[in-house]
Amino acid sequence: QLVNLILCGGVGSRLWPLSRKLLPKQFSRILRGQTLFERTVARNRKIASATMLAANRHQAFLGFNQMEGLGIHEHFGLIEPVGRNTAPAMALAAMLVDENAIILATPSDHLIEKEEAYARAVDTAVELAREGRIVTFGIRPEYPETGFGYIEAAASASSRGDDGNNGPGDSGSDADPSYAVKAFREKPDQATAEKFVEAGNFYWNSGMFCFRAGTFLEELKLHAPDVYSASLAAFKAAGGPAARKERTPWQPEVNDMEGIPAISVDYAVMEKSRKIAVVPCDIGWSDLGSLDALYDFYRDGSGETADALSGDQADFDDDGNASAADVDPVYIDSRRNLVIGGGRQVAMIDVEDLMVVETPDALLISRRGSSQKVKNVVKELEQRD
Ligand code: GDD
Ligand code: MG
Repeated sequence: QLVNLILCGGVGSRLWPLSRKLLPKQFSRILRGQTLFERTVARNRKIASATMLAANRHQAFLGFNQMEGLGIHEHFGLIEPVGRNTAPAMALAAMLVDENAIILATPSDHLIEKEEAYARAVDTAVELAREGRIVTFGIRPEYPETGFGYIEAAASASSRGDDGNNGPGDSGSDADPSYAVKAFREKPDQATAEKFVEAGNFYWNSGMFCFRAGTFLEELKLHAPDVYSASLAAFKAAGGPAARKERTPWQPEVNDMEGIPAISVDYAVMEKSRKIAVVPCDIGWSDLGSLDALYDFYRDGSGETADALSGDQADFDDDGNASAADVDPVYIDSRRNLVIGGGRQVAMIDVEDLMVVETPDALLISRRGSSQKVKNVVKELEQRD
């Protein structure tokens, strides 16, 4: 049994004003057509037998609603009264299912453009998970991003195919070095990230994981015993497995959850476990985590991706201006700008490398390359409230 655990927690504040507390980016229509959440559900529905949500109350409401829209009526999962980051969410989810179930934990806010390559990578991961591995999906790094985790592979990246295509039958066993991991390092500083990218045998961690529920809990107990025991206590207090009902997601009490340390799975388990494996893959993965990433996505979206995304591509002109979401700006002597529209006519004169996002109640103007500072705007606004 393969269970897709979809994690929703983040607000995506770096995408303000496209992403808001009341409508985080995975539920908002930043691309034409389906939301990132709907795409995640649909993509994994083809390979997993159940969809399980881990989210706060508000996001669970949005999520189950969008699932209803896709014709999925079971409401299965975990509603967190308080967010404790990903390690506790994954622990509680793993406690909810059979210890032998294979969990494919995925974020809800990423884009994967090559679905066939993705399905092949998951097949390989499931085999490795059955053998007791905690499997990560490695993306070849494009630049020294400090907001990601890095996976140091034992084998060099250039000495093997990166398509996740190696059948586990021929190469997925423990003895096979191609999936072996030397180390996992979450969010390195700039200099370290540069070293990693140069080294050639490091991958970006995509943020998706595949494991046997029992393996994950054993590793959590070993490396973060306080997180494990506090999660187990919350699980038992809320009725344990007996409380699980398919149409009423399971929900611990606030005070039980508050006792669990807040820590991400990357720090709690991935950096420490010796059972990590990596499936290197070329799946058209994009985090879409910032306006700069959106610009790059609109610029680099290749022919290959057009199928999966038909109609999504923003207009991109010869001067490098990207325009998205039903806006057709007038550009006069303006280059490499990003304009995301909310209905009004936009015109740009003699400007380069700007990002303009206009929505009914907010207007953002930023230099390209500064999108990491957008979250500061959100912070400032929260202080004013
Ligand atoms: N249910 C639940 N509860 N989900 C949560 C919580 C929580 O308390 N906190 C975060 N999430 C969800 C987010 O919504 C997202 O889908 C996923 O878990 C990962 O959390 P992020 O906060 O987005 O992590 P990150 O982007 O800083 O880093 C992770 O993803 C990178 C790739 O995008 C790490 O796994 C990195 O190693 C990785 O490179
Ligand atoms: Mg993220």
